[in-house]
Amino acid sequence: MIIKPRGTTDILPKDTPIWQKTEQTAREVAALYGYGEIRFPTFEQTELFARGVGDTTDVVQKEMYTFLDKDGRSMTLRPEGTACVVRSVIENGLLGEAMPLKLYYFTSCFRYEKPAAGRYREFYQFGTELFGAETPASDAQVISLADTLLKRLKIKADLQINSIGCKSCRPKYREALISYFKQYENELCDTCKGRLNTNPMRILDCKSPICGQIAKNAPKVTEYLCEDCRTHMDKLKSLLDDTGISYEVDFGIVRGLDYYTKTVFEFIAPIDRDAKTGEVKSLTICAGGRYDGLVEEIGGPRSPGIGFAAGIDRLIAAIKMSGEEISAQNGPRVYIAPLGEAAAAYAQKVVYELRQKGVYAECDIVGRSLKSQMKYADKIGAEYTVIIGDNEIETGRAVLKNMKTSEQCEIELNKIDTII
Ligand code: HAM
Repeated sequence: MIIKPRGTTDILPKDTPIWQKTEQTAREVAALYGYGEIRFPTFEQTELFARGVGDTTDVVQKEMYTFLDKDGRSMTLRPEGTACVVRSVIENGLLGEAMPLKLYYFTSCFRYEKPAAGRYREFYQFGTELFGAETPASDAQVISLADTLLKRLKIKADLQINSIGCKSCRPKYREALISYFKQYENELCDTCKGRLNTNPMRILDCKSPICGQIAKNAPKVTEYLCEDCRTHMDKLKSLLDDTGISYEVDFGIVRGLDYYTKTVFEFIAPIDRDAKTGEVKSLTICAGGRYDGLVEEIGGPRSPGIGFAAGIDRLIAAIKMSGEEISAQNGPRVYIAPLGEAAAAYAQKVVYELRQKGVYAECDIVGRSLKSQMKYADKIGAEYTVIIGDNEIETGRAVLKNMKTSEQCEIELNKIDTII
């Protein structure tokens, strides 16, 4: 038997209603904030991610699905959406239009990660990107969009924010981190040993307990922020306070992608409970930050940007953890059960006309007996049933039965929609 690749999911009809509801809510919230939808290709030139996401990141070094196309060009299945949106807005000249430019997207992403609860190799994101504003007010608005989405989905999440500085202050912080972690080089995990000279900030969010312990006493970014980054962060905090959005400042939030500058943030929520131990597992369900140098890095004009992406798989896991029930599609309003060949053809016509009028109707297409048709109608949750035989075809009238109350009444077949 052929089975799905490891780390991928089939989303079955019993689950699609919760996906649709989540996506619909995200669309509504994006519209409330004036965002327009953008769609982009599933694969891009590998160089886009190498330059955009960063050569030294785990995503680029270890996790990309990269292949040569038939012309020998290196292509990569998108591991995230931001670099793709930036490429598209530059290529399509959108940065010359009314600013700020506000875009949202739904996208599948591909990362060769070790599969676990809430961690897949193909996963889905709802993302937003805002270009052309570098004020703390734009950061606050983007965070408030994510906060509104989570509230509407009834997900209780903790917001953590941090500043990782900018081009001018980050090099000094980087130096300080390198010289601090050098003292513990032998104790660091193998991944962090590799990160020491390439991406020392990433050691701060390593999940290994030893690295975590060492990171606790590492220099704090706040001591190295330049005046501009410091005031930016202070203003953002006061705007969030004024709006009533609660948050914690966490110096360990450094993000796994290289393009970030200044503000970074993550919303963390419970997504799983271990069946044996009952232990609750929390993960980042939504994350983002400012990327003021990315547009230039990818070949566009200088244009600040900020955005976030929420993992839809994780949002849904969090909704399920909160006990929220989202029901599956309702059954048909009416099931037409034909008796005999002529009636079967007639039932097709009645059902077609009802559907034209916007009524969800079904009839037999399997050739079942009347008894098993009735069983089936009950099973799929039909609200009403109508049995059609030769007599009903002749008179154009039939008996309509309410499946819940068992009440019956005679109706004209071409007027079913006015009665139900
Ligand atoms: P990211 O933190 O790599 O950021 O991913 C954003 C979200 O996608 C995560 O918070 C998580 O919910 C979900 N996610 C990531 N990896 C996986 C996985 N393997 N399985 C399931 N869900 C996952 C970005 O992708 C940035 N592009 C976000 C952004 C937009 N920053 C600015 N604008």
